[in-house]
Amino acid sequence: MNESDRMQELSALQEISRSMHSLDLDEILHLILEGVTHSIGFDRARLYLINEKENLLECKIAVGIEQEKISMITLPMDSEMSIMGRVVSEKKAYVIQDARNDPRVNPVLKEFFNLRSFVAVPLLGKNRTMGAVSADYIYTEKLITQEKVDSLIAFTNQAGLALENAKLYQELKQLNEELEERVKKATEDLKKTQEQLIQSSRLSAMGQLSAGIAHEIRNPLTSIKILIHSLIGRLPPDDVRREDIAVIENEIERMNQITKQFLDFARPSKPKKGDLDINKIIEDTLLLVSHELSELEIETEKAFESLPCIMADREQIRQVFLNLILNAIQSMPGGGRLIIETGIKDGQISISFQDTGRGIPEAIREKLFEPFFTTKEEGIGLGLSITKRIIEDHQGKIRVESAEGKGTTFLISLPFS
Ligand SMILES: Nc1ncnc2c1ncn2[C@@H]1O[C@H](COP(=O)(O)OP(=O)(O)OP(=O)(O)O)[C@@H](O)[C@H]1O
Ligand SMILES: [Mg+2]
Repeated sequence: MNESDRMQELSALQEISRSMHSLDLDEILHLILEGVTHSIGFDRARLYLINEKENLLECKIAVGIEQEKISMITLPMDSEMSIMGRVVSEKKAYVIQDARNDPRVNPVLKEFFNLRSFVAVPLLGKNRTMGAVSADYIYTEKLITQEKVDSLIAFTNQAGLALENAKLYQELKQLNEELEERVKKATEDLKKTQEQLIQSSRLSAMGQLSAGIAHEIRNPLTSIKILIHSLIGRLPPDDVRREDIAVIENEIERMNQITKQFLDFARPSKPKKGDLDINKIIEDTLLLVSHELSELEIETEKAFESLPCIMADREQIRQVFLNLILNAIQSMPGGGRLIIETGIKDGQISISFQDTGRGIPEAIREKLFEPFFTTKEEGIGLGLSITKRIIEDHQGKIRVESAEGKGTTFLISLPFS
């Protein structure tokens, strides 16, 4: 190469090095390859970056190789496995004169790139090795001169620093984004917790007040009930007023039930735990509702596996099953199927209640377990919140799966020991 060519090459390389102030990693990768091929004049060039997590060298960009093949090229960092591995671990350049007869060259790469003579140089940052570049003349079959190697080393020394800066910037940006994401999530969580706190303190104040009221209502209700009963007894059997009084009696009973349920909810008793056979309790509960099931033409399917006994509160667990079965029945006014399955899953007792009812719209699924949430005219909206609390008191979990128009499944898991 004559002096003027050399000057031209140097000034082109300087120009490229100056443009590397950019912090965009892709842009720098392009500039490096442009320097190696256009300015220094190699036909082909491949740039590898170190993937520290996977301990690999990954080809990021190349000239003279089909684009879609580039991402397939990864090399182990082991210096015995390839020249590139050697270059990054020893941090020094290699010139291979005859790749075909050189045992240090990876045989697969030899084939893949049709390697003859090539040069490989490391990309060194200030504090770490970034990767390596290899380059050759495949088309012009020119000799790789020491002059070219020197140019390449001088250029890649600059490029390594620029690359390190860009990589640092990218990592910093990523860290910043992760941090922002975490702060955003923490703020959202905090907001939710605050809302829940306000809600639950409001509920607890309301709860205390209403529990008192409910309790006071129950006593006069009991007296009214007794009086009404004796009033019916005093009326002649064919008295038309008997019907009206029967309606009043029913309504009073309903009010009684509501206050009882509410009080059960507001003043939960500590679970009285004993050995329970879950399958047997489900059977008993089904007996309670057998009339409704047959009236509405709801078929029941049971798939019970034999289960170990668990320590649980019989009345509370029965209440759970009754709530879920009643909800299932109420979701199938035109008939359907109720499938109850029990078994052991992931070391816990699993119980599922599946119905073929109307399903639960996505929009209200989150609210189901909230006290007083109901979509039913006659509902109080306490069934599921009581259910959830009982299950959690037994260290269990409950969740729901539902498809609108197809049906709903409530899944319970309870630990046993
Ligand atoms: N199996 C189900 N299929 C469809 N919707 C259901 C089912 N189970 C619960 N839901 C929905 O969840 C709501 C809350 O249920 P929850 O049992 O807590 O109260 P409720 O049944 O309305 O009243 P109650 O206090 O009498 O039980 C119901 O109003 C209903 O909209
Ligand atoms: Mg209910």
